[in-house]
Amino acid sequence: MDVEELLTHALAARERAYAPYSRFLVGAAILCDDGSVFTGCNVENASYGLSNCAERSAVFEMVNSGRRKIAALAVVADAPRAISPCGACRQVLSEFAAADVPVLLANLSGDRKICVMSDLLPYAFYREDFVEHE
Ligand code: THU
Repeated sequence: MDVEELLTHALAARERAYAPYSRFLVGAAILCDDGSVFTGCNVENASYGLSNCAERSAVFEMVNSGRRKIAALAVVADAPRAISPCGACRQVLSEFAAADVPVLLANLSGDRKICVMSDLLPYAFYREDFVEHE
């Protein structure tokens, strides 16, 4: 599966976002090393600080299914330019994604940016004695 195909999963997840407060719907899709795909959307709350981003929702879906190795990631939102994950999500993603994992950032009007995890979070903090990717 290429990252463009992964983007179609992220777009479908975005449709499921619960974002009545910000009205900013985000979708994320993770391709795992075994070919499985997990998606996430943002889930907001009346207590705003409890809201969860699409990227972390997708990571939690993946881990809950027994997978822990991200092979590719796609994120999409309706923004003027391709969306870029927040700092908290970059840290959580880096727990399960090696530095060279490809990332596709997109918006709804065709802006695309392709980068790798280490572009999003250089010098990531991780515990080599626990983190399972190289
Ligand atoms: N959001 C995400 O889901 N992912 C991002 O990368 C940035 C922000 C969500 C959080 C909140 O529900 C809404 O977008 C507005 O910030």
